[in-house]
Amino acid sequence: MSDSEEAADQGQVLVIVTATVGGFSLLVILTLFLLITGRCQWYIKSKIKSEDKKRTQYQNGHVPFPGLKTYIDPDTYEDPSQAIHEFAKEIDPSRIRIERVIGAGEFGEVCSGRLRIPGKKEIPVAIKTLKGGYTERQRRDFLREASIMGQFDNPNIIRLEGVVTKSRPVMIVVEYMENGSLDSFLRKHDGHFTVIQLVGMLRGIASGMMYLSDIGYVHRDLAARNILVHDNLVCKVSDFGLSRVLEDDPEAAYTTTGGKIPIRWTAPEAIAYRKFSSASDAWSYGIVMWEVMSYGERPYWEMSNQDVSHLVYSNSTKFLTIEFSKAVFLGKMYFKFF
Ligand SMILES: *[C@@H]1O[C@H](CO)[C@@H](O)[C@H](O)[C@H]1NC(C)=O
Ligand SMILES: *[C@@H]1O[C@H](CO)[C@@H](O)[C@H](O)[C@H]1NC(C)=O
Repeated sequence: MSDSEEAADQGQVLVIVTATVGGFSLLVILTLFLLITGRCQWYIKSKIKSEDKKRTQYQNGHVPFPGLKTYIDPDTYEDPSQAIHEFAKEIDPSRIRIERVIGAGEFGEVCSGRLRIPGKKEIPVAIKTLKGGYTERQRRDFLREASIMGQFDNPNIIRLEGVVTKSRPVMIVVEYMENGSLDSFLRKHDGHFTVIQLVGMLRGIASGMMYLSDIGYVHRDLAARNILVHDNLVCKVSDFGLSRVLEDDPEAAYTTTGGKIPIRWTAPEAIAYRKFSSASDAWSYGIVMWEVMSYGERPYWEMSNQDVSHLVYSNSTKFLTIEFSKAVFLGKMYFKFF
């Protein structure tokens, strides 16, 4: 054998060996891959099963945005006072100065006042109080809102400063929004803003809702009356205590499915099957867009709730899917871009 033949032979062997090794590794990789994806699928399946059980917790089986804490339903805590301690700061009542009554809530008076923060100047706050003679259940329902709010951290979500639970009266202290709720604010200033200003308000609300959707919280009662306005027209989403009960919302009406729902703001699937999700929140956002652009007009004007739910639900396939998919689409664009 000549040297060159030997070299060619070696070359051939090398090719065969390389091909064999390559083929074998490919096989191993493929097998591993199949095994892993199989495992993953099995894992995902079992995960979905357990997720199903937790549906009530996350409402829509939502996968939280990476890097953000997932919302935890305080009702999943056996001891609700544990949830409140985990999510809300206890405030020493001597740091709170109540100034005047600004309204009445389901549980007691709502006041404005000042909160002294050590090392900082006083800040204006709104204080919700729980009136005396409450039951343990009322106390828990009252504090649930704080356990929910305390988990949020976003400039377009109303901020919880803390709670007073260790002395009477029990209080929830939140940031003070001087211009009140968005619906009456708009009616009071009918025609006074530019389109850019109105869209700026919507942008803020969308950004708050985007945040809620990212951490897996479904609001269920998004409406202009539940948005608060700060100075500079900054809008913040509020009213979280009612996200499950809705008993306190004057707009909520009983439906045939048994629950109380603010029909005019609610998506058809939520009215019909109580299927609340970030998608149904996006529907409500579409209605809020309409409220804002019309300076707080009543959605569907004077139509009765029954006619509205008929229009929205029975007639949703034609007229409304077109009209509202526009609004919902716009809403989603907002969610995406801002
Ligand atoms: C918001 O409220 C403050 C305090 O009440 C008031 O001075 C201000 O004019 C209000 N802003 C608007 C746009 O009405
Ligand atoms: C749907 O609503 C439109 C507008 O109100 C109405 O003209 C139409 O007759 C309705 N269709 C059905 C099936 O109710």
